[in-house]
Amino acid sequence: MVWQDKVVLITGGAHRLGKAMALRAAELGAHIAITYNTSAGPAEDTCEEITRLGRRALALRCNQVDPDVIQPTVDRVMQHFGRLDGLVNSASVFYRTDFFEIDQQAWDEVMAINTRGPFFFTQSVARYMLDHDGGVIVNMIDESALKPSLDYAHHTISKAALWSLTRLSALRLAPKIRVNAILPGAVLKPPDWDAERWQAIADHIPLKKLGSPDDVCQALEFLLCSEFITGQMIVIEGGTTI
Ligand SMILES: NC(=O)c1ccc[n+]([C@@H]2O[C@H](COP(=O)([O-])OP(=O)(O)OC[C@H]3O[C@@H](n4cnc5c(N)ncnc54)[C@H](OP(=O)(O)O)[C@@H]3O)[C@@H](O)[C@H]2O)c1
Repeated sequence: MVWQDKVVLITGGAHRLGKAMALRAAELGAHIAITYNTSAGPAEDTCEEITRLGRRALALRCNQVDPDVIQPTVDRVMQHFGRLDGLVNSASVFYRTDFFEIDQQAWDEVMAINTRGPFFFTQSVARYMLDHDGGVIVNMIDESALKPSLDYAHHTISKAALWSLTRLSALRLAPKIRVNAILPGAVLKPPDWDAERWQAIADHIPLKKLGSPDDVCQALEFLLCSEFITGQMIVIEGGTTI
């Protein structure tokens, strides 16, 4: 698919990987909508950077814990741009909790943001895409979907479910919509980790180094542009899950 003047919606696109992917999609020629929850300032900054690339940009607040805000968010993207061709489900929550300390509130929050939100975004954009020229959906999962991360049980399960959603929706929405996933390992330091802890991860990676946002953006570009791939994941983790 050629992305010039197409429209891509990226959830959690205000900063970090979401922002990097928004800028990469803009460099491919797309106009960009991003959602944010708490990062209004960074979302505006990202829109300015997209505008400087000559593309149109829109930032919408969408706390995707609440499924009822998702269809209206997609509707506003359609009203603003008049079309919608791509969705990247990147918004996510990630925090460590001991297996025995996960309570119903923590479980519900992680599942709501990481799994239920992407499902309803998929459903909402698919209604438009199936009625028009089709589209492409990319879900951001995590290496824990292949190799369980014991201190992040609810996150692990939410991302495994997102992988299941990827395959299911690839089948359900074919042939007009392609749905794939990107599975990063350590590509961008969580904000609450110190540099030493982050660097130490490299010792446990077969390739003995950390990844980068650019590794993810290359995969995104490939999945946006490939015409014959659906229901698959690109694994970017230096061999960790082997
Ligand atoms: N960083 C890595 O190395 C890595 C590794 C494996 C997988 N991934 C996956 O790649 C994706 C992006 O990674 P990242 O590190 O850039 O993610 P991140 O910083 O942990 O989170 C991305 C965004 O999620 C949004 N978000 C959180 N709660 C939300 C809510 N209730 N409603 C709407 N948005 C909400 C946040 O928006 P606000 O800031 O506006 O609140 C945040 O900007 C995620 O899906 C992550 O699981 C990343």
